[in-house]
Amino acid sequence: MTAKLLDGKALGLAIRQEVAADVARLAKAGIKPGLAVVLVGEDPASQVYVRSKGKACEEAGMHSVTIRLPDATSQDELLATIDRLNADPAIHGMLVQLPLPKGMDSDRVLRRIDPRKDVDGFHPENVGKLVTGDPTAFRPATPYGIQQMLIRSGIETSGAHAVIVGRSNIVGKPMANLLIQQGPGGNATVTVCHSRSRDLPSLTRQADILIVAIGKAEFCTADMVRTGAVVIDVGINRVDDPSRERGYRLCGDVAFEEVAAVASAITPVPGGVGPMTIAMLLKNTLQAAELSRTA
Ligand SMILES: NC(=O)c1ccc[n+]([C@@H]2O[C@H](COP(=O)([O-])OP(=O)(O)OC[C@H]3O[C@@H](n4cnc5c(N)ncnc54)[C@H](OP(=O)(O)O)[C@@H]3O)[C@@H](O)[C@H]2O)c1
Repeated sequence: MTAKLLDGKALGLAIRQEVAADVARLAKAGIKPGLAVVLVGEDPASQVYVRSKGKACEEAGMHSVTIRLPDATSQDELLATIDRLNADPAIHGMLVQLPLPKGMDSDRVLRRIDPRKDVDGFHPENVGKLVTGDPTAFRPATPYGIQQMLIRSGIETSGAHAVIVGRSNIVGKPMANLLIQQGPGGNATVTVCHSRSRDLPSLTRQADILIVAIGKAEFCTADMVRTGAVVIDVGINRVDDPSRERGYRLCGDVAFEEVAAVASAITPVPGGVGPMTIAMLLKNTLQAAELSRTA
């Protein structure tokens, strides 16, 4: 391997410590930032994410509430839960863990969250603010974490060609919007690719910074990467592995070993983008608590 490893665990920890220091400062003003996480159903991956979010929150000195609703919960019951959290002054930030069970209208659910508490940044009001470069927007935690990782690792985005593979509302689209904004971690030239993009390898090979978020294990191979590119692997995939006690291993969307041999820097999976996502969620909750002082 020749690429430098971008250590999301260490960078995420540093951000969490900064957040914890700010939480202690707010405590002196009588404010304890509070995050509510709502989980509907039993999806095993979601349960893991929700647990780590709650734990990280408590470690930063924040108030953490996890609401677990059964699979059979009706959409109206979920909306009523959101209304209650919207009205709760101890809750500054809230998120509804996605994906929601089949039959629920996630757009409607996400729109019900008070935009001032929308720490995932998925409410159209925050999406609009992000697109227009309004600094009060809540930035979706995964792309925000990737941007912080680039900034804190000294990777210049200004003038760079960033190629993003994946156009989801959670990762690809907000990532593109962050990278084209003016300012630190921005000013990039951005190409967004998706399943209909023609000759994907010819596009990804143009990247100075390649961000892959498609959810397909080890899809991005060395021949898709220009020598010296920075590669950010967002994917989290479970692949069967009978040699492991739990029967599977986690891997990203990038074939790590072969791509690390040509890239200049790369994120591992696990330990790359994932820990940055949690750190930025805490940062957004802090921002929401600070916002509540001026509201
Ligand atoms: N580390 C973290 O904190 C974190 C956070 C969020 C997500 N993730 C992971 O990141 C991955 C992507 O998540 P997501 O929510 O963005 O996924 P998603 O909503 O399923 O979107 C996947 C995107 O990839 C595109 N795509 C799929 N196959 C492709 C192909 N062969 N070539 C080019 N584009 C292709 C799709 O294109 P179309 O739009 O044309 O269908 C779509 O835009 C997943 O593994 C997820 O678990 C990780």
